[in-house]
Amino acid sequence: MHGDSFVTTPMKAHELTQHFERLFGTYPRIFRAPGRVNLIGEHTDYNEGFVMPAAVAFSTYVAVAPRPDRKLVIRSEEFPGNFEFDLDHLPERRTGAWCDYVLGVASVLQQRGLKFGGASLLVHGEVPIGAGLSSSAAVEVASALALMSMGETQLPLPEVAKLCQKAENNFVGAKVGIMDQFVSCMGKAGHAFLLDCRSLEFRFVPIPTGIRLVVCNTMVKHDLATGAYNTRRAECEEGARLFAKWDPAVRALRDVSVELLDQHFHDLPPTIGKRCSHVVRENQRTLDAARLLTEGDLAQVGALMRESHNSLRDLYEVSCRELDIMVDAAEGLAGFVGGRMTGGGFGGCTVNLVREENAEDFASCVAERYLQKTGITAQVYLCIAEDGAGEFS
Ligand code: GLA
Repeated sequence: MHGDSFVTTPMKAHELTQHFERLFGTYPRIFRAPGRVNLIGEHTDYNEGFVMPAAVAFSTYVAVAPRPDRKLVIRSEEFPGNFEFDLDHLPERRTGAWCDYVLGVASVLQQRGLKFGGASLLVHGEVPIGAGLSSSAAVEVASALALMSMGETQLPLPEVAKLCQKAENNFVGAKVGIMDQFVSCMGKAGHAFLLDCRSLEFRFVPIPTGIRLVVCNTMVKHDLATGAYNTRRAECEEGARLFAKWDPAVRALRDVSVELLDQHFHDLPPTIGKRCSHVVRENQRTLDAARLLTEGDLAQVGALMRESHNSLRDLYEVSCRELDIMVDAAEGLAGFVGGRMTGGGFGGCTVNLVREENAEDFASCVAERYLQKTGITAQVYLCIAEDGAGEFS
């Protein structure tokens, strides 16, 4: 598949409405939240650092209508099950089913003091699952908007992002950072954005016209992803504790400068040193890439993306053979600006900046090279940056 499947979206919304009416006998409102690609700034969000993601057209849609009772009824077009919960006695932690993302959000909204009545929800997800494009954040954010529409209080989107992250951290049990939920809420068409994950201040960074985001799915997801993610987080926290001994102003790796890193690199246990080295320099690369992209210096942006990938492969050790092959497959192709793995790693996708006129050829050449080396047929999506979450009409 070469990307432009997104033109079918309005049709899907129509079908979703019909499906909802057949199931629940009433007409829904529909809320949409997108997945994302991260251009640079990987494994920096939970170190209170910088990221530069963009929302893409792959989205999750949640159709919702009020019910006369106090039930939350959750169904999906893609996943089996007809889940019913009593709004006044929601489970306190994960049930193990896909509906946990919706339930977790309902539960954190209630804890935040929001009141909403019974609701029927139908979830339709188009974000490829397990591809590192934040399908879970998209479900959470679309569900949050749908559930809030059943009550009187509409929280601002940045707060919605934080609550969705809380649902994933505390209810689902995945200790993710804020990046995915935030970009799903706040994305802007034609732009990436530079997010400070400590203050949550952000600045939109225009993606130059004529540049496509070409997302190449390796179609693999290695099992160690979740365990390794938590280990990396713990290693970073250990690094921050050590640096705080040398400079008490350090609260997170975000506070470690390249100079401080260089000064103490050899005092750190080797693995911790590698992890810290990645995070500290990745933060700097992200700030530099935002400036260079704004200035239109694409060659330098491309070089930083490559450095980021190498660092994730060699220092942070979250790449894998398939991702490395996919990144290498892009080198030298016409119109290629830069590329790297995107998301948590151990499989999933690479993101590539490619000149529009070359994007189709680029997609088939990368897929062909990848097939030759791995025997796996990749999916390639030709994307542009899209708007963040909202009501879909
Ligand atoms: C996953 C998490 C994000 C972020 C990335 C790595 O996508 O959900 O919070 O940590 O990994 O940059």
